[in-house]
Parts: sequence; C-alpha cells; structure tokens
Amino acid sequence: MNVLSRLGFGAIEMGAVSAQPCAGNAGCRAIRLVDDRSVVTRYGVPNEGATAIAPRFKRRERLIPVGVNVIWNNSGNPGASIHEIVEDIALATGQLLDDVDYVTVNFACPNMKGGSHFDEIDNIRILLNKLDELQPKIPIFLKLKHHEGDEAWLDEFLGLTRQYPWISGFIPIIHMMLDMGDASAHGGKQLRGSVSGALIKDASLDMVRTWYRKMDRDRHALVATGGLSSAQDVYNAIAAGASFVQIFTSMIYEGPFIARRMHRGLMELMRDSGVESVAALRGSAVDGFRVGPSINTHQIIKASSPCKLT
Ligand SMILES: Cc1cc2nc3c(=O)[nH]c(=O)nc-3n(C[C@H](O)[C@H](O)[C@H](O)COP(=O)(O)O)c2cc1C
Repeated sequence: MNVLSRLGFGAIEMGAVSAQPCAGNAGCRAIRLVDDRSVVTRYGVPNEGATAIAPRFKRRERLIPVGVNVIWNNSGNPGASIHEIVEDIALATGQLLDDVDYVTVNFACPNMKGGSHFDEIDNIRILLNKLDELQPKIPIFLKLKHHEGDEAWLDEFLGLTRQYPWISGFIPIIHMMLDMGDASAHGGKQLRGSVSGALIKDASLDMVRTWYRKMDRDRHALVATGGLSSAQDVYNAIAAGASFVQIFTSMIYEGPFIARRMHRGLMELMRDSGVESVAALRGSAVDGFRVGPSINTHQIIKASSPCKLT
C-alpha cells in the first residue's frame, strides 16, 4: 500500500478480502495474452481474511485514500445460500469499515466456485438490506457485472439503489470468459478465466456511456474500468461519464509509472481541447449532456478521509 500510494494514483483499492482466509482456486491462475495486452485470470480471491488484513490498513501511511474490495468466501462451501453469502460480505465489510477510506462491495467476481448469485435483483436487494444495517459512514461502491444489452436489468438495479443513501457509486465490469489454453495443459481439465485489458476496452467504454445515460449523475459516481492504458483512454472514459478510472492490467504491461503518464497526458489532452476541468469533461461525449451541478469526486472521498488529495 505504501509503495502504490507513491506512484501517482488518486486512490488505491486493495483486495479482494473476505471475512475468513481463502486459499483461492487450485491450478493455473493467470495467463498473459501479450499480443492482446490482456490477461486471463481465475485467482478465486486468495487472501488471508479480514482479521489478519485489517491491522495493515490501520498502520498504512496516510498518503492517499485507500479502499478495500470485499467479497464472500470462495472456499469450502460452493453451495452456500444467498443469505450465508450476504452475511459473509457484511461481516467482512463490518470488520474493515473503520480502517479504510472507502469500501467496494464486489459481487462481480466471475471466478467463484458457486457461480454467480447476483444476476438476480432480488439477491442484490437482500445484500443491500443487510449492508444497510451497518449504516456505513464512508463511501461504498458496488462492483458488479454489466448485463450487456439488458437495459431493463440496469433500470431495475438503478431503481433499487436509490433506496440506500450510503451508496456512492458503481463499478460495472464486462464479464468476458476465455479458455486458458488446452485442457491437456491442466491435467485434462478445461480451465476458464475472466479477461481484463485491451480485449474488453471498447465494450467497457460503451458500458460507461450506457450507465451514465441512465444513472442519477448528481448522486452517484461512475468508475470506469476495463482496458484503460493511455491518457486518451482516460479522457474518453471521463467524457463518456466516468468520475474515476481504475486500472490494473495496463500496469502489468506498462509498469509502475503509468498513472503519472496518464495524468500528464490527460492534462495535455484537456489543454489541447480547451476543457477546463475534469468536471467539465465528465459526460461531455454523451447525448443529453447538460452543464450543471456535477458530482465532486474529491468530496466523495474527502468527506471521510484525513488524506490530502493530490
Ligand atoms: C490479476 C488480477 C486480479 C484481480 N483481482 C480482483 C479482485 O480481487 N477484485 C476485483 O474486484 N477485481 C479484481 N480484478 C479486476 C480488476 O480490478 C479490474 O476490474 C479488471 O481487471 C478490468 O480492468 P483492467 O482491464 O484495467 O485490468 C483483478 C484483475 C486482475 C488482472
């Protein structure tokens, strides 16, 4: 955390963390698709559990906001009921809430043993009702699968989230799964993993546009993630409606100074196109854009964080 905090990021998100320790998936966990600037992963969220990890958040240097990504436990009980899963997420959230600047509740992971439980809005409602009991005082983001082409699903989801004032924003993510090479390479078992990086970039930008059109822009922030690797990508994501951008795979390929390069490049692009602020850029490429009170991303995090935003 202390190293990542010095690389030029506005905030960092650690995780995923579950209430109990989890060994993650067995076998090959990640392959790089170098020509495609992409990665296929099936880690299955290995982590030491919230009790072991919370003290590390406590003793971190307070340089930039640090969030935690929480998830339910992926070990042992693939047949867990939705109520058990929701209890588990709420437990991990409660254990970490006091030691971080924000929480991302991750019901997006496609690599869980029991499959996806949160395609059903009713299950998301059960989760949000449970989290509501915690009455979170710090920003909470929901990270979830984008249901491509299903705008009715999105409308229903967004309608549901209006009932919970503690939700700060959304991190939708494209789920694209790929076989990880021949089954023969993995003892006859065909392993599949989720794709990140350039292969999901175009779909991710479309997704950001779709969400921005439909969401309550004055109330919720949208985090763009999926294949962003250049300042131009960041510019496009913000213009499509993102308040934040989140990267992972491009740092694997481009190295640790990518955030700095993105910042500098973004400043140049904004200067060249006469855009005065990120707030003015946000959503400017989307039909129906109106200038007006836009969400102040700094305030979302500053409200809870003792950190100085850089
Ligand atoms: C090796 C690896 C591990 C990841 N682990 C998590 C995780 O634990 N929780 C999570 O919400 N997303 C996880 N992700 C997804 C990223 O946070 C991000 O949403 C996704 O990779 C798309 O962004 P990118 O194309 O910039 O990588 C992981 C991605 C990679 C490549």
